[in-house]
Amino acid sequence: MKIRKAILTGGGRATRLHPITTTINKHLLPLANKPMIFHAIEKAVEAGITEIFINTNPGETELQKHVGDGGHWGVKITFFEQTGGPLGIAHAVNEAHKFIGNDPVLFYLSDNILLGKLTDMVDDFSLGNYDCMLALCQVPDPERFGVPYFNDAGTLIDVVEKPKDPPNNFAVTGLYLYGPKVFFDAFQHIEKSPRGEYEISSIHSYFLKNNYRVGYKEITGWWKDTGKPDDLLLANELLLKEMPESTWTHSGRVRIGEGTRIGDNVSFVGPVVVGASCVLERCTIGPHVSIGDGVAISGANVENSIILNHATVSGNIRITGGLIGRHATVTQKNFSSIPLSVRMIFGDKTVFEC
Ligand code: G1P
Repeated sequence: MKIRKAILTGGGRATRLHPITTTINKHLLPLANKPMIFHAIEKAVEAGITEIFINTNPGETELQKHVGDGGHWGVKITFFEQTGGPLGIAHAVNEAHKFIGNDPVLFYLSDNILLGKLTDMVDDFSLGNYDCMLALCQVPDPERFGVPYFNDAGTLIDVVEKPKDPPNNFAVTGLYLYGPKVFFDAFQHIEKSPRGEYEISSIHSYFLKNNYRVGYKEITGWWKDTGKPDDLLLANELLLKEMPESTWTHSGRVRIGEGTRIGDNVSFVGPVVVGASCVLERCTIGPHVSIGDGVAISGANVENSIILNHATVSGNIRITGGLIGRHATVTQKNFSSIPLSVRMIFGDKTVFEC
C-alpha cells in the first residue's frame, strides 16, 4: 500500500504570529530563505508522494502564486478552499475527501519543520498494514500539543489534545499516515472541541477506542511546530545549520544572492543566507540570519533573525532575535557608542525609529 497522495495545510489563522501574519500567510514565511511550506513539500516529495492537496483559507491567492502547480518539484499540486474557514485540522483533511477517495494518504502540517526523512515512517506504515501511524516526539512542553496516553503495559490507548496535566513528555507531531477511508469514516463520529474546532486528536482517539490499528514512531531527530516567534527563529537556525556545503557561496558558511552589494566593514558569522539585490554596509551579520531580497542594512549587528524582502535596518543597533516584515524600516538615529540590543517582531511596512 504505497502512499502517493498527501494533504498539506496552507490555511489557518496563525494568531500567535501576529502581527507578521496579518499580511502574509504563515506558510509563506521564509525559513533559511525558503517559504515554510516548501520545506514540507520537499519532505513529502522525498517520501515518494506524487500528488499534493493544499487547503487554503477562503479567498487566498498568494499561496497559489508562490507554490504553483508542483511542476517545480515534479509533482501535481492542487489547492482547495476550506469551506467555512478554519474549523480545525480534522475539518481541513475532511474537505479533501473527494481528492483522496479510497487511497491511503499522508497528512502533514506545513508549519512543522523536521530534520531527517519521512521515508522510514512511510515504509513502516506500508509494510505493517496499519490504519493510522503517528509520529511522536519528546518535548519539554507537551501541554501545547496532542499527547499520546499509554496504559501500564505501554500500549497506546488514547490521544488527548492539549491536556492540562500531560502524563508523559511526548507530543503527537503534525505528521500522520492514514489507510484507505479510515479518516473519513472517523470524521463522521467526532464533534467540535471547546475551542470550536474539529481536532485531529479526536480522530486518533476515535481510532484507538474503536480498535483500529494505530502505530507510532518516535522522531529522534529535530522537530519543531513553528507556532510562536521563538520557534520560527529556532527553526531558521536549525535549517541553516543543516544546509549542505553546496549552499554556500562564500567561506564561513555564507550565501550571498545575485546583485547583492557588500560595502565596507561588513563581517559575517555563518551560517547566514542573504538574498538578491541587497545592500549591506558597516554591519555584522550572523550567526543564524536569513535575509530576503532587496534588504538594506547599515551600521547594525544582526543575529538569530529573519528579515523579509525589502526591509531596511540602519543605525547602531544590535538585533538579537528579530522577525522583520516586508518593507519594514528599523532606524536607530542617534549613533551613540552603546548599541541597543533588542528582540523584535515587526509586521510588513512597520516603521520603527529610536
Ligand atoms: C496541532 C494539533 C496537535 C499537534 C500539533 C503539532 O496543534 O492539534 O495535536 O500536536 O498541531 O504541531 P495546533 O498547532 O493547532 O495548536
